[in-house]
Amino acid sequence: MMKVGEMSELTADKPLRASLGSEKILIFLVKGTPVATQARCPHAQGPLHQGELCGTVLTCPWHGWSFDLVTGECEEDPDLLIKRYDVTVEGNDILVSQVSA
Ligand code: FES
Repeated sequence: MMKVGEMSELTADKPLRASLGSEKILIFLVKGTPVATQARCPHAQGPLHQGELCGTVLTCPWHGWSFDLVTGECEEDPDLLIKRYDVTVEGNDILVSQVSA
């Protein structure tokens, strides 16, 4: 597990941007729980930090595809999943596993 940020930095309206090894990731606060995802959209690499989060659903700013951050599922393409990572909170620290879920 690697520390990628602190809970006190995380707000519902803006994800944290972090690196996990060579991968860029985002940490969203989804209904009070941190969720770590790939930083670029699995459709065509859109910048997901500019997406809009509504409930558990993140909408990509480029073509409007939406992803449920809890299940990883894409509404527009059932075969496409957003990559997520295991997250643990220890005190104020947000720790992310390098193994994606
Ligand atoms: S790049 Fe995200 S919907 Fe197309």
